[in-house]
Amino acid sequence: MDKPALLISEEDIRKRVAELAEQISSDYADKGDLVLIGVLKGSFIFLADLSRRLTIPRTIEFIAVSSYGHASAHTGAVRLVMDVRGNIENRHVLIVEDIVDTGHTLKYLIGVLESHRPASIRACTLLHKAEAAEVDVSIDYVGFGIGNEWVVGYGLDFAERDRTLPYIGTVTPDD
Ligand code: IMP
Ligand code: MG
Repeated sequence: MDKPALLISEEDIRKRVAELAEQISSDYADKGDLVLIGVLKGSFIFLADLSRRLTIPRTIEFIAVSSYGHASAHTGAVRLVMDVRGNIENRHVLIVEDIVDTGHTLKYLIGVLESHRPASIRACTLLHKAEAAEVDVSIDYVGFGIGNEWVVGYGLDFAERDRTLPYIGTVTPDD
C-alpha cells in the first residue's frame, strides 16, 4: 500500500479543532461541567487536542464499540465493547467521534448513552462522509465534510495502520 495521499494538513486540522473548541466552549458556557465521551480507538488524538483547547470545565470518559465484520465493508451492526465508567446521569455529554460514515455507530452510541439518563447528548465529529449516510442522526459539530473515501491518520486507521500519522490522508484499501 502506498503512502497515504494528503487530504487535510496538520495546520488545517489544528485551526479547525481550535474553532470547534471555541464554539463548544461558548455553547456550554454557564452549563457546568461537560463530559466529553471519546469513542475508542479512533477519537483519541482528536479528543486530546479538542479537550485541551476548551475553556469550560470538562471531564473525560471513553466508550468502545466495534462494527461486526471488516470495517470497510460492515453491515451496520454495532457491538458495545466498553461502556462509560463514570456516572453521567443528569450531566451534559458530548460524544467525540473521529468520523461519521454510515451513521450506524453514532446512532447506536446515542441509544447506549441515553440509557444512562444524561441531561443532554450532543455529538461532535472531526470528519463526516455525508454521502455515505444510511441512517438519520443529528451531528451538532462537524470538523470537515469529506467524500466517500477511506481516510487514515490523526487517530484513524486502516487495519491498525497509519493511526498516528499527523495529517489526514487517503488510502486505497484494495492496493
Ligand atoms: P459508521 O459507518 O458511521 O457506523 O462508522 C463506523 C466506524 O467505521 C467509524 O467510527 C470509524 O471507526 C470507521 N470508519 C469509517 N470510515 C472510516 C475511514 O475512512 N477511515 C477510518 N475509519 C473509518
Ligand atoms: Mg470511530
